[in-house]
Amino acid sequence: MAQQNKVQWVYEAKDNDELEARYDEWAAEYDADVIDEFGYFGPQRGADIFERFVPTSARVLDAGAGTGLVGAVLKEKGYGSITAMDLSNGMLEEAKKTGAYEGFDRMVLGETLGYETASFDSTISIGTFSLGHAPASGLNELVRVTKPGGYIVYSVRADVYVENGFQAKHEELVSAGKVTIVDGTEPEHLLPKGEPELEHRFWVLRVS
Ligand SMILES: C[S@@+](CC[C@H](N)C(=O)[O-])C[C@H]1O[C@@H](n2cnc3c(N)ncnc32)[C@H](O)[C@@H]1O
Repeated sequence: MAQQNKVQWVYEAKDNDELEARYDEWAAEYDADVIDEFGYFGPQRGADIFERFVPTSARVLDAGAGTGLVGAVLKEKGYGSITAMDLSNGMLEEAKKTGAYEGFDRMVLGETLGYETASFDSTISIGTFSLGHAPASGLNELVRVTKPGGYIVYSVRADVYVENGFQAKHEELVSAGKVTIVDGTEPEHLLPKGEPELEHRFWVLRVS
């Protein structure tokens, strides 16, 4: 791969096929790149929020698990039942090496997920709802596959939250009585070294 900002490179994918191909290509170097070059700490931050709401005995879905950085932190915290789901098989192959997950599913947020309704106690999704990535409509399926009373903890780029329908999706889900919004963080920099201008927010939804 030519040396370029790989975060921008995946943001610029024109469709899911191109996005999948780019993540497949990036998978082996992803961890070193995002941690060393960008100072990425989204997985730690997301898992810290998650453990405030969800017991370690929970059956957890990691949606957009990537190489398993989130699962690795959750495993350290004592979570023992985590399923990794992602668009990219290349990323899921890396996630297998963490030993944090009990299942691996190649599925696409924005499409119908191949899980039964209420399959998981709670769901986490970090770095996956972003520019050119999973759309706001993907939240519908996370709500469906998470049990009533369970939590969805997810991050979203702050600009994408407003401009790409996430704020409206929250309002829709709340007025339909499907979720309550339990917490939302202020915008913060999760990629402080390589992308200091990009801000993200974390949201905690409780499924009704
Ligand atoms: C920036 S990475 C984040 C991975 C991991 N959660 C982390 O924090 O390191 C985004 C991940 O979302 C996946 N992804 C992007 N769009 C997706 C979609 N529509 N459905 C499922 N996975 C998607 C990508 O394949 C990639 O593994």
